[in-house]
Parts: sequence; structure tokens; C-alpha cells
Amino acid sequence: MTKLGIFVDRKTLSSSEQLNALIRCRDVAEEMGHDVDFIFPVDINKIPHMDALFIRARTDPMNITYVAAQMARFHTIPVIDDPDSIQICADKINMYSHLIKSGVSIPKTVFLSKDDLTEKVAAKLFADLGTPLILKEPSTSFSLRVEKVSDVTEFFRVAKRFIKLSDWIVVQQYVESRYDWRVGVLGGKLLYVCKYTIPSVTFKIQASVNGHIVYCGVESVPETEVPPHIIRLGIDAANAIGTGLYGVDIKNNNGD
Ligand SMILES: Nc1ncnc2c1ncn2[C@@H]1O[C@H](COP(=O)(O)OP(=O)(O)OP(=O)(O)O)[C@@H](O)[C@H]1O
Ligand SMILES: [Mg+2]
Repeated sequence: MTKLGIFVDRKTLSSSEQLNALIRCRDVAEEMGHDVDFIFPVDINKIPHMDALFIRARTDPMNITYVAAQMARFHTIPVIDDPDSIQICADKINMYSHLIKSGVSIPKTVFLSKDDLTEKVAAKLFADLGTPLILKEPSTSFSLRVEKVSDVTEFFRVAKRFIKLSDWIVVQQYVESRYDWRVGVLGGKLLYVCKYTIPSVTFKIQASVNGHIVYCGVESVPETEVPPHIIRLGIDAANAIGTGLYGVDIKNNNGD
């Protein structure tokens, strides 16, 4: 019998959906003959006693999930997410650089440093990438620091806020679509596909609107109903990062 550790924290357990998903994961693993232990940060020293580790908490090289991943790797225990994937995916500059290097198609993307924040550069970006533009602070997650700007004034308002948090900001061509594809890939193989329908009050899959959090609609889609180029792109993007578990967000401007 093998022992699977599932690393969790309070935030992982903050909704009944998350709790139910974790319990279901444990039940399925047990049906498959494994022993399952939920590991909280205070029990991190249990990791060397596991045969495999599945991290289900927000991964970041600056928090304890990274220590958990490194600990597993040090003890040659298979781990999802592995430390390299955590490091790459926590930084959009690093992540996009991997995608570009592997020839994976992404929206037109430019990285800016503080010295690039001039009227001339901003005007050229609108001319080259179109209007509106998408700005991202590289450590963003859950759509938190992703904004749409329509003119130079808005560009500077957002860019100045983001450049206080990071040495670089990401500027991207805006790809209009009613939904994001989310392609789940594990070990280079397709795991699932879903469609995230963008709420009408925003352009991203979740946002704070007038103090209320709005979320996208989520619908899982059978593999046979997904355009093959979407699956191919998801797998290629995942392979550009590593061999772990990835949820690849894909936007396509004609909607499919
Ligand atoms: N170039 C773009 N054009 C249009 N919409 C975009 C673009 N980039 C991102 N978005 C929208 O904003 C959302 C958030 O962007 P993104 O996924 O890049 O950052 P994040 O969610 O903060 O990071 P992570 O996915 O790593 O948690 C996307 O799901 C998508 O709906
Ligand atoms: Mg996202």
C-alpha cells in the first residue's frame, strides 16, 4: 500500500466545494488501494514518510507550499506541483518566456521595465498591439492584477501601480472572447477541458465589481467536443513548462 500526502491549508478548505473535492480525491485514492493523509503546514515534517505528495494549496515560491515541494524532491518523493513548475508559473515573465521559447502561440506580449514607462512607449504599444491593452503584474493569480486599459492615461494609472510591486510588467494584446478554455494536462496527457464563461460585467474570469466578487460560469466539456487545436495548444503549453499538472487558460478571438 502506498501513502499519498495531500498538502492543504485553511484557504484550501474555505468553501464546501473545495472540501468536497478533497474528500472525493481521498475516497478515490483509497478505492484504488492507497492510504491518504491530509498534511497541514504544521505537519510538514510528515512529508518524508509519504510515497507521493499532492499540493492542494496556493503554490508560490514565497510560501510554505514551495518548502513542501522542495522537501519532497529532496527525499525523491514524486510531487505535484514540483518546485520548478511552482517557480515558473508564479512569475508570468518566466512562464511566457518558456512558452515563447518553445514556440507556443500566445497573444502578442511585451515586457516593460520602469524605464520603459514613457508616453512614447505607451503610444507605440497601442499602435502595435491595438486598443484596448491588457496589463499584468507578473505575480498575479486568480485574475487579481490583470487590467484592461483603453488609453494612455489609463495605461499609466495601472502601470504605475503594478511597477511598484514588480521590476517588470506584462503588456498584452487584448483577445476578445466570451469564454476562456481551461485545458487540464497531467504528465503531458489531457486530463480535462472546461469552458469558463466570462461574466458580462467584466473581461476576466473573476473580478471585484462594486465590492462584490463575480465568478465565471464553469462547464466541463467532453474531449470529443473540443476543437483538436485547443487540446494540442494546451498540451504544448504544458510541455513547455514541465511534466506536472497544469491548468492552461486559452483565449481564442473567434470563440472556438
Ligand atoms: N490577453 C488577454 N486578452 C483578454 N483577456 C485576457 C488576456 N489575458 C488574460 N485575460 C483574462 O484575464 C484572466 C486572468 O488572466 P491570467 O490568467 O493571465 O492571470 P491570473 O488569473 O491572475 O493568473 P493565473 O492564471 O496564473 O492564476 C484570464 O482568465 C482571462 O479571462
Ligand atoms: Mg488565470
